[in-house]
Amino acid sequence: MSIPQTQQAWRATAKGAPGKVLRLDNDVPVPVKLKKGEVLVKVQAAALNPIGYKLMQLLPGFVLKRPYIPEHDFAGVVVDSNGTEYQNGDAVYGFLTVPLFMQTRQGTLAQYIRAPTTHFIRRPDDIPPTQAAGVPLAAMTAYQGLFQVAHLEPEQRVFINGGSTAVGSFAIQLAKAIGCKVTATASGKNEEYVRSLGADEFVDYTKGPLHTALAENSPSPKYHVIFETVGLVDTALYTNSEAYLAPGGVFVSTGPQPKGFDIAGIGKLLWKVFLQPKWLGGTKRTWKMVSVAEKREDLQKITQYITEGKVRPLVDSVYGFEDVPKAYERIMTSRATGKVVIKVDSEAE
Ligand SMILES: NC(=O)c1ccc[n+]([C@@H]2O[C@H](COP(=O)([O-])OP(=O)(O)OC[C@H]3O[C@@H](n4cnc5c(N)ncnc54)[C@H](OP(=O)(O)O)[C@@H]3O)[C@@H](O)[C@H]2O)c1
Repeated sequence: MSIPQTQQAWRATAKGAPGKVLRLDNDVPVPVKLKKGEVLVKVQAAALNPIGYKLMQLLPGFVLKRPYIPEHDFAGVVVDSNGTEYQNGDAVYGFLTVPLFMQTRQGTLAQYIRAPTTHFIRRPDDIPPTQAAGVPLAAMTAYQGLFQVAHLEPEQRVFINGGSTAVGSFAIQLAKAIGCKVTATASGKNEEYVRSLGADEFVDYTKGPLHTALAENSPSPKYHVIFETVGLVDTALYTNSEAYLAPGGVFVSTGPQPKGFDIAGIGKLLWKVFLQPKWLGGTKRTWKMVSVAEKREDLQKITQYITEGKVRPLVDSVYGFEDVPKAYERIMTSRATGKVVIKVDSEAE
């Protein structure tokens, strides 16, 4: 396959909302100079993540220089294997971590990307690129949060706040895959979706404060793990958790992720989870955060679950490459169920 010198890529040109700062450039150099251990991938599909628009809106230019190519998840084909274990033509999928992206300012909303082999694996034929692209970042966050941060074990009980978020909906499926009992939240319209993923019990978070509902219906035994996948800054679910989280149980969060700055909220959370001593009313439960890392073995395991039919890739919507701003509008509603995917190659299945 001949590799062009220039390509199309979306670039963020300033700090701000995607609809205002994104530009589709036609003359971006293809990154043909590869380091040892990197390959060149022709991107077939990419997927959006909340971190994409949060970095775009929050990080000042001295931290993240513009223009840069946003986003992390990809599925594609190796077109320069650069002496690695891969062959040209291999189908692959993975994600470019935030620390890597901060160094390179190269995200996945481009026709060609450089990718270190540590950040992707081979993609089986039965997971088409538009489905595969949405798996890595969200499913690995769920996998690492449940099993490596909270150490969830078979047959335990887990409460997932945000059962219809991308992370939460992978978490439901992964917890069920090892035989756990799962309770998950969403708004009422998503009850069927969350149950179709395997949730045994459902709580509509719009009906009243969650901590009250949980305290009133605390399971026996109590939950072993609470996985907060919404990005709440509100501390009530944690500070009241002695009523429904077992002693020794873990409260794991994808991180307080306000859409803008919320210094007071973050300050309160830090006080509640790290600083307030237990004798001064501090919560007698462990609070931990998951920060997704590039562990190929985790994506291998998730891929195995997918091929075994225990986990299914979740696609909310698929947009053409020219419609990236519309795709951001969709993910920024915080109402998507599954991943918002971009067909970078119009031929991609
Ligand atoms: N730490 C990490 O490494 C890491 C990695 C990945 C993601 N994250 C963070 O995790 C969070 C989730 O990301 P995502 O991509 O999974 O989100 P997403 O798919 O964009 O979330 C959309 C879903 O959120 C649900 N939702 C919104 N508000 C809710 C609430 N108060 N309670 C329960 N559900 C609610 C919506 O359901 P309804 O319409 O029913 O409300 C919708 O289905 C984000 O803050 C993201 O930045 C962190």
